[in-house]
Amino acid sequence: MTDTPNFTKDSASNLDQTLRPHSWDEYIGQKKTKENLRILLTAAKQRGHAAEHILLYGPPGLGKTTLAHLISKTLGTNMRVTSGPAIERVGDLAAILTNLSPGDVLFIDEIHRLSKSIEEVLYPAMESGVLDIIIGKGPSARTVQLELPPFTLVAATTRISLLSSPLRSRFSGGTFRLEFYSESEIAEILKRSASLLEASITDELLTDIARRCRATPRTANYLLKRCRDLAQLENGPINTDVVERTFALLEIDELGLGAPDRAVLEVIIHKFSGGPVGLNTIAAATGEEQATIEDVIEPYLIRQGLLERTPRGRVASAEAYGHIQNAVGL
Ligand SMILES: Nc1ncnc2c1ncn2[C@@H]1O[C@H](COP(=O)(O)OP(=O)(O)O)[C@@H](O)[C@H]1O
Ligand SMILES: [Mg+2]
Repeated sequence: MTDTPNFTKDSASNLDQTLRPHSWDEYIGQKKTKENLRILLTAAKQRGHAAEHILLYGPPGLGKTTLAHLISKTLGTNMRVTSGPAIERVGDLAAILTNLSPGDVLFIDEIHRLSKSIEEVLYPAMESGVLDIIIGKGPSARTVQLELPPFTLVAATTRISLLSSPLRSRFSGGTFRLEFYSESEIAEILKRSASLLEASITDELLTDIARRCRATPRTANYLLKRCRDLAQLENGPINTDVVERTFALLEIDELGLGAPDRAVLEVIIHKFSGGPVGLNTIAAATGEEQATIEDVIEPYLIRQGLLERTPRGRVASAEAYGHIQNAVGL
């Protein structure tokens, strides 16, 4: 076999890029957010001003980065991409901001990971378009104020609760929460992906994948590609058998939960009689990081009514008990 394996992070982001929508029409769902953005961006463009700052939040894989690209495309300006952890020092941010051209979009992914000292430089830049730089140390230190080109900050986060309220309040263009997708929306996304990947598959099987992708486009595309891989290896079509075996190989059950999702429910049910259990206890017992549980695992379990967040900890629902019992043996 000459193909290289497809399981690295690199090829996951390649997949994102190949299948990433390039127009608003291709961007399925998120109707309210799309409509609000359309008004905001069109009005700014008509006035000839940079659009106001925009904050996008929601679980991974729901389309935040894609939206940022569409925003910049609509404004017809360049987009500079960076992320919270990449901006280590005030100087890094200053270099980025001073190199923007008027009207540019600055996309900061994972903005919740910016340090406090950098946030403080960002506030005046967002609010009044100036950069305050301290030159020198001790009694001779002075502040120099630099005027910045007008720009639009588009920020994305999976953890809005970690953002300080002064930072949140500066997104004057709006804060938009991306929602999980309906099965029919995912099926529509998958239809386009299948045609881009030149994978022949029936609508019925696309719906099966749509049902098991945790309502997340990135996961849906990933599953489609794994089905295609298996079919290709066996020189056959993507049929029901191939799809079912792909789910089994990836240990994805009929609700779309994977092993880490089930592990969280199992720990709560079997070790802590259904809860309430603290997040750190669940993390220790499952070996998952707390951040992964909060960002990735919990939002979907909560949406499915399998898990509840209470002031005293996480609680498994009656549905979770039923599901875990049925899933035994997977
Ligand atoms: N609304 C959408 N319509 C079509 N495809 C989407 C949509 N949202 C996400 N996708 C697909 O999922 C992939 C991951 O989306 P991305 O924007 O990277 O998510 P996030 O930044 O929220 O983690 C994209 O490359 C694209 O293929
Ligand atoms: Mg992203």
